[in-house]
Amino acid sequence: MTADELVFFVNGKKVVEKNADPETTLLAYLRRKLGLSGTKLGCGEGGCGACTVMLSKYDHLQKKIVHFSVNACLAPICSLHHVAVTTVEGIGSTKTRLHPVQERIAKSHGSQCGFCTPGIVMSMYTLLRNQPEPTMEEIEDAFQGNLCRCTGYRPILQGFRTFARDGGCCGGNETNPNCCMNQKTNMAVTLSPSLFKPEDFMPLDPSQEPIFPPELLRLKDAPQKQLCFEGERVKWIQASTLKELLDLKAQHPDAKLVVGNTEIGIEMKFKNKLFPLIICPAWIPELNSVEHGPEGISFGAACPLSSVEKTLVDAVANLPVYKTEVFRAVLEQLRWFAGKQVKSVASIGGNIINASPISDLNPVLMASGAKLTLVSRGTKRTVRVDQTFFPAYRKTLLSQEEILLSIEIPFSREGEFLSAFKQASRREDDIAKVTSGMRVLFNPGTTEVKELAICYGGMADRTISALKTSRKQLSKFWNEELLQDVCAGLAEELHLAPDAPGGMVEFRRTLTLSFFFKFYLTVLQKLGRGDSDDSLGKLDPTFASATLLFQKDPPANTQLFQEVPKDQPAEDMVGRPLPHLASSMQASGEAVYCDDIPRYENELSLRLITSTKAHAKIKSIDTSEAQKVPGFVCFLSADDVPGSNVTGLLNDETVFATDKVTCIGHIIGAVVTDTPEHAQRAAQGVKITYEELPAIITIEDAIKNNSFYGSELKIEKGDLKKGFAEADNVVSGELYIGGQEHFYLETQCTIAVPKGEEGEMELFVSTQNTMKTQSFVAKMLGVPENRIVVRVKRMGGGFGGKETRSTVVSTAVALAAHKTGCPVRCMLDRDEDMLITGGRHPFLARYKVGFMKTGKIVALEVDHYSNAGNTMDLSQSIMERALFHMDNSYKIPNIRGTGRLCKTNLPSNTAFRGFGGPQGMLIAEYWMSEVAVTCGLPAEEVRRKNMYKEGDLTHFNQKLEGFTLPRCWDECLERSQYQKRREEVEKFNKENYWKKRGLCIIPTKFGISFTLSFLNQAGALVHVYTDGSVLLTHGGTEMGQGLHTKMVQVASRALKIPTSKIYISETSTNTVPNTSPTAASASADLNGQAVYKACQTILERLEPFKKQKPNGSWEDWVTDAYTNAVSLSATGFYKTPDLGYSFETNSGKPFHYFSYGVACSEVEIDCLTGDHKNLHTDIVMDVGSSLNPAIDIGQVEGGFVQGLGLFTLEELHYSPEGSLHTRGPSTYKIPSFGSIPVEFRVTLLRDAPNKKAIYASKAVGEPPLFLAASIFFAIKDAIHAARAQRADYTTKQLFQLDSPATPEKIRNACVDEFTSLCITGVQENCKPWSLRV
Ligand SMILES: Cc1cc2nc3c(=O)[nH]c(=O)nc-3n(C[C@H](O)[C@H](O)[C@H](O)COP(=O)(O)OP(=O)(O)OC[C@H]3O[C@@H](n4cnc5c(N)ncnc54)[C@H](O)[C@@H]3O)c2cc1C
Ligand code: FES
Ligand code: FES
Repeated sequence: MTADELVFFVNGKKVVEKNADPETTLLAYLRRKLGLSGTKLGCGEGGCGACTVMLSKYDHLQKKIVHFSVNACLAPICSLHHVAVTTVEGIGSTKTRLHPVQERIAKSHGSQCGFCTPGIVMSMYTLLRNQPEPTMEEIEDAFQGNLCRCTGYRPILQGFRTFARDGGCCGGNETNPNCCMNQKTNMAVTLSPSLFKPEDFMPLDPSQEPIFPPELLRLKDAPQKQLCFEGERVKWIQASTLKELLDLKAQHPDAKLVVGNTEIGIEMKFKNKLFPLIICPAWIPELNSVEHGPEGISFGAACPLSSVEKTLVDAVANLPVYKTEVFRAVLEQLRWFAGKQVKSVASIGGNIINASPISDLNPVLMASGAKLTLVSRGTKRTVRVDQTFFPAYRKTLLSQEEILLSIEIPFSREGEFLSAFKQASRREDDIAKVTSGMRVLFNPGTTEVKELAICYGGMADRTISALKTSRKQLSKFWNEELLQDVCAGLAEELHLAPDAPGGMVEFRRTLTLSFFFKFYLTVLQKLGRGDSDDSLGKLDPTFASATLLFQKDPPANTQLFQEVPKDQPAEDMVGRPLPHLASSMQASGEAVYCDDIPRYENELSLRLITSTKAHAKIKSIDTSEAQKVPGFVCFLSADDVPGSNVTGLLNDETVFATDKVTCIGHIIGAVVTDTPEHAQRAAQGVKITYEELPAIITIEDAIKNNSFYGSELKIEKGDLKKGFAEADNVVSGELYIGGQEHFYLETQCTIAVPKGEEGEMELFVSTQNTMKTQSFVAKMLGVPENRIVVRVKRMGGGFGGKETRSTVVSTAVALAAHKTGCPVRCMLDRDEDMLITGGRHPFLARYKVGFMKTGKIVALEVDHYSNAGNTMDLSQSIMERALFHMDNSYKIPNIRGTGRLCKTNLPSNTAFRGFGGPQGMLIAEYWMSEVAVTCGLPAEEVRRKNMYKEGDLTHFNQKLEGFTLPRCWDECLERSQYQKRREEVEKFNKENYWKKRGLCIIPTKFGISFTLSFLNQAGALVHVYTDGSVLLTHGGTEMGQGLHTKMVQVASRALKIPTSKIYISETSTNTVPNTSPTAASASADLNGQAVYKACQTILERLEPFKKQKPNGSWEDWVTDAYTNAVSLSATGFYKTPDLGYSFETNSGKPFHYFSYGVACSEVEIDCLTGDHKNLHTDIVMDVGSSLNPAIDIGQVEGGFVQGLGLFTLEELHYSPEGSLHTRGPSTYKIPSFGSIPVEFRVTLLRDAPNKKAIYASKAVGEPPLFLAASIFFAIKDAIHAARAQRADYTTKQLFQLDSPATPEKIRNACVDEFTSLCITGVQENCKPWSLRV
């Protein structure tokens, strides 16, 4: 069989590929073959949406052209024959005209680093192609498969809301309590609620969209013929008829069927599986048909889930309610099932046959008794989905030659009820912890059980049915007795071993009961026959809300900031909401990130080889298999290093491990090949043997083994002994705060280009730290730093993760470039990035707090331990910042804080937005909440009572000047209507037994400056060219935080010229040398002053010419200066004055000033499942006189949402051997669109100029992150309410809630009769699946 030509269209242009390789994804093809780099790689596993594109094709079933979004990272090019692809470049550009979707996301400030933006644009674009006037709910649904790590989502939703039928601004005319216009009243100064002007937006004109290629339309009636594509290792056959398919399967029983590739694609990429023969049945009519039969609806197995969903929605709308119980349950599962991009290609058959133990559909199909038709050449049989269909892990009853032809989902009957439940870590796009389908059929006219099916996913290695328990209930009545019996039965029947994969054993067991209880109540409610029937249980009205399905409420947001004074000149952009300067290019896909730089002709690819053992001696490295991989160039190890193999901030690291490895993920070597695919294969071929050594994984292990870096850090003030003696009460306890992965959307990336002369090398790096990148490479190569140039255009997010850890990649890549003499590129895959580069430090705190009955704190002692990992990196500075923030905002007369850095065999942890501050402050608020409970006082009263006042000294003896926190506090109380809200929460809690609400208001005080004082310096370089244009360079890097935009604003005001005349091209070591990392929130302060100074120098030089021509223009003065031979290039330099703190004497200033903010949040928890909903957040933040309110509000919201992830969602799981389980978006959940508070309001404190920073502004990058603790403590408040209703509970009882407050922790803390049935305990010598590290 000879290979066919693959024909498809990209952005209207025909692509004919003669050598289509089935292993090539659309993403790789777009980026590398077609040079369309707008579509990004964020994860490669369908979990982030950065690679979203739109596909269009003629659908023979619907007889029309359909448009749908897909993940290009999972779409094999071979599946695209006769399909039209539209990428972000295809819909608009800054060179021609932006598409309204691109324009609106840019102008509404919905693009910060911009790496997620093209994917989000394409999700929105696809929605609009199908639905030009969508509802707000449809817009939110369209983004279920997209992630953004920067913006906090609000600006994106707000920008796109302008497309919505129900989303426009009410213009202050309606009785909308959240109306943005209403917020203006009663304020002495003008507060602007508008960060952008919707009236300036281009209208959407659907008639202007690119048309479906006529050539493809003509082909729609041409008969399909079998196609064959053959690559290096894999052959792909596209069968066109069922007969062909069955013949092929008979000839090649081992061949894999691929439909959506959402499962197989991941197995190939991440599990290194090879399927030499793939058969694609997607074209076969029988596999795509939908038939309405007498007993149900039958779907061809290749039907995508999106079309199953649509068919069922229609059926529910048109059929009698009693017939659609099963359909509604399937729809409920599909509602929280992946994003649109996955659902539009993933097939229903693929989900069943894949036999995943956590499939969401299989429990419902099993409970409903759905029927499957299986065929092979000459055979056909129908089987039910029951407990025998999945005989073992990922196995089905299908024989090798058989395929699944169709699935019949049955109608329900009178007296039959079915529900589906799913609990995951995150509601949207997450795989279940436990998922379930439950069905009961009553004997006609009674509540006597005729049939009962209770099926679960997530409770065994396959989908199971609790047969023993459900059979016992036959002929019983639906009442309390049955409920008790089922619960006791389930607790016994569904046992999970304490070391079960996936962990969370008690939680998962409890969920099985909670789900049944919900089902029991739901059926009671549906039966609704009330008191008359004794055989039927009674529905307590306070239980009713437990049956409610999760409802999305329309988002309500406001952002308020002070407008610039009326007399500020129009061209002075300081203080105005100028959009991020690159936002339009980010939205159109033109913005260039490191990996978007076109490939060099002789470029090579590098892949790191890392340790699979936490602590071991390397016995041997065998590269012989790797060498056989086509395109192999070389293997790199420490032996290749020409200079020093010793590296790291503290010289405690190596470029490549030599004889010993100290963590899983420790870099041992690297392979260099011609392509990234070959590099991945070659890396798999490198075999390393180890001799294992004892490893220390957790903080507790480290304490036990006295394994620390350095000595104890300490801050002490007052007389602790006296303080505790005076206290009326003392509370002590422990809090663990888990780590956090940065999850910048752009993973670490470096391109190193050797220059061939005198050791010169140029590096393009995604780094926050050009200086250390340069010096580490120079040291490793043994050349002076002046030979190495490091260039950074922009990063797709950093958050501290690219402050030091980026160097582990860039140094290795530089070595490869040196050794081969060729340009070398490496962009880490998401799983490698998560494994190798560390994250936020987990903290363990042991505290003791002494306080008076009034709630006044008199003494505090906290011992902090952080898990630093296998090298010290920035751990000491991070612990110092934790100690500086252990008071949060409270005056504590007698205090001692100690800190120890645990040396463990985990990858080195590092800087992360907040840098230890959030951990220190969470501990403070934790004991503070316990003080309030113990005193029986409202928490906000105790917090306010202990709050610092103007002029107070902190525990490190720094005087608080310009202390605006009380103003923020009072304004937040007022804006959130705290007292009224509290009353409403209490009323809600009385009326609802299984749902509880909680409320909390939390302050923050965040010290601004690097605590290593010499780092508080910055440089700038200003060139003015003869046409008057200005090229500005400064030491800071742009990672989405809008630093370049702010710097252009600063220069524009300083030079008194419009921002359009000023351009920042990049950050580089050959323009501004010796720069501090872009970190510590201080970059706008430091670089802003340096820019200002450089501009002043230019102005001084222009002054004589201005005097000569007072009415001249900027261009005139510049020309005159040039013709008079006056330099038009100037540098600026700034250092923060008067810094320097000594731990020995507890004196001197660590911080230049402080940033303040307050947040009030309200949440609702589901006590039965641990789910929670963020109802409301009000933030008041002091950012001084904002340089750019849009950027500052973006930082506040983005930081808050990242904090929300830290404290409620994001959980890293490590095995007892120190191996990270959570290596991608499928297992590690950052906040998504649906995670943000329904009502989200941000106010920038008015009239609060800060005399310590440029143009009276304040630092904003890190301080708001901690405010998300208000959500954590609102959850704790709600759990308290749940526990308080138990008979044996006293309201002053304390309970531990570690961070993050995940569904597991919330559920386990809401102890009740279900949790007590599921206590599992930990057996001795049992190795749990995951550890608290
Ligand atoms: C980001 C993401 C999120 C996801 N979220 C969820 C979720 O929330 N819940 C959930 O349950 N799943 C989820 N999944 C899993 C995924 O949806 C299912 O695996 C999907 O339905 C598989 O369909 P597919 O067509 O892509 O399968 P493919 O990858 O094409 O194939 C899967 C398997 O099924 C076999 N197969 C397919 N069709 C047939 C047939 N007709 N006869 C015989 N064998 C066949 C294939 O040979 C293969 O072994 C998610 C996946 C991703 C990538
Ligand atoms: S890169 Fe495709 S979904 Fe993340
Ligand atoms: S702007 Fe969305 S990830 Fe950075």
